Amino acid sequence: MKIAIGSDHAGKDLKAFVIDFLSLTNNTILDYGVASDSAGSVDYPDYADIVASEVSNGRADRGILICGTGLGMCIAANKFSSVRAALVFDEFTTRMSRAHNDANVLCLGSRTINHQRAVDFVKIWLSTEFEEGRHRQRLTKIAAIERRNCGLVE
Ligand code: RB5
Repeated sequence: MKIAIGSDHAGKDLKAFVIDFLSLTNNTILDYGVASDSAGSVDYPDYADIVASEVSNGRADRGILICGTGLGMCIAANKFSSVRAALVFDEFTTRMSRAHNDANVLCLGSRTINHQRAVDFVKIWLSTEFEEGRHRQRLTKIAAIERRNCGLVE
C-alpha cells in the first residue's frame, strides 16, 4: 500500500517513530512533513490538507496524521471527499475503525499515547479488514450526506 503520513510540530517525533516501523514493512511511505528538524510550531490543517488530499484523490491508499491530540487532524481530514478519518485511542477503537468504518486515515495523538502504543495501533489498523455487510450500507449513507452537503446530486 501507499501510505501518506504527516504531522505538525507536536507529532513529528512520533511520526519519525511510526515511519521507522513502516519502513520495515512492504508499504510505500510518502512523508509530507513536517520535517523532523524543523523548528517552531506549524499549523496542523496544512498537513491534514496534503495527506487527506492524497487519499481523497487516490494517490495514496491510506493516510496517517499525527498532532498533539489527533483531534485537529481528524476534523480537517474529514472535510475531504471519500476520506474517513478516525481518531483512535485503544486497540478496540483502532480495530473498529477498520472493521466497521473502513477508515482510510488514521489519526493519532502524540500527547495522549506513547510511541510504542501508537505503533501497536498502526499494526492493528493496517492488518484489519473492513467487514462489509451491514457496514457497507452505512458508509453509503455517509457518502450520500457528503454529496448532499457539497451541493452535488441527491
Ligand atoms: C498544537 O499545540 C496542538 O493544538 C495540535 O497539535 C493538535 O493537538 C490540535 O488538534
